[in-house]
Amino acid sequence: MLDAKGVTKNFGGVRALSDVDFRVEKGERLGLIGPNGSGKTTLLSIIAGTIRTDKGRLAYKGRDITRVSPHKRAKLGIGRTFQIPKPLSSMTLLDNVIVPLVFIRGLHNKDGETSDVALELLQQVGLSAKASLRPKQLTQLELREMELARALAGKPELLLLDEVLAGLTSGEADDVVELLRGLNGRGIAIVMVEHIMRAVMGFSQRIVVLDFGVKIAEGDPEEISNDPEVLKAYIGE
Ligand SMILES: Nc1ncnc2c1ncn2[C@@H]1O[C@H](COP(=O)(O)OP(=O)(O)OP(=O)(O)O)[C@@H](O)[C@H]1O
Ligand SMILES: [Mg+2]
Repeated sequence: MLDAKGVTKNFGGVRALSDVDFRVEKGERLGLIGPNGSGKTTLLSIIAGTIRTDKGRLAYKGRDITRVSPHKRAKLGIGRTFQIPKPLSSMTLLDNVIVPLVFIRGLHNKDGETSDVALELLQQVGLSAKASLRPKQLTQLELREMELARALAGKPELLLLDEVLAGLTSGEADDVVELLRGLNGRGIAIVMVEHIMRAVMGFSQRIVVLDFGVKIAEGDPEEISNDPEVLKAYIGE
C-alpha cells in the first residue's frame, strides 16, 4: 500500500531521518516506535506530505506521491492524527468533522446531509452526544476521539496515528485500542506511533524501530522485544 524508499530529512544540522525504507501492507497494523526525537513524527509528516523528504521516493498504491500535496494525499486516502490535537477551537465538534468532509471528501452541505455523515462519524467514536460542544469542553480522551473522527472523515485507507493514547488512563487507552481494532477490521491500515509499549506491542502485527533517524530493527512484537539493539536504544549503553 505504501512504499517509501530512502527517506531522509535534515533540519539545519539535525539529522531527523537518514535513508529510511518504510512500507505498509494493505490492512496492516504497524507499530512505529523509538526514543524521543528518533524521527517518528517526522516520518508520519513525510508520508502525509506536510514535510518533504530531502531524498528518496514515496509510492502509495503504486503511484508516486513524492511531490503530491498533503491535501491530495488526504483525498487519496492517507489520514492522520496529531501528537498535539489540533481542533478548530471556535467550532462545535460537529463542525470540526464537517470541515474535512467538505474539504477532503468533497461533500456539499445540502439538506443537512453532511451533518448526518458527521454525526455518524462522531457516533463511531462514541461522541455523538457531544456534537454541539466545543473542543475546550472535552476531556483528553474525547479530544483524541474527536481527532479520530476528523481523520476518518477523509475515508482513509491508511491511518497514521501519532501517540493517540498519550495522556489517557490505561482503561481509556484499552478502549481506544478496541476502537482502532474495529477500524482495522473494516480494512483500514493503521500505523501506530506510540510510547506505551503494552499497547503498541499488543496491537501491532509488525514493529519498526527508529533511533536517531535510523531504522534499527523491524519484526514482529516478540522479536522486537528481545532485540538487543532495541533494548540498547531505549536503555542506553
Ligand atoms: N520543524 C523542525 N525543525 C527543527 N528540528 C526539528 C523539527 N521537527 C523535528 N525536529 C528534530 O528532528 C528530530 C526528530 O523529531 P521527531 O519529532 O520526528 O521525533 P519523534 O520520534 O516524533 O519524538 P517524540 O517521541 O518526542 O515525539 C528531533 O531531533 C527534533 O528536535
Ligand atoms: Mg513525535
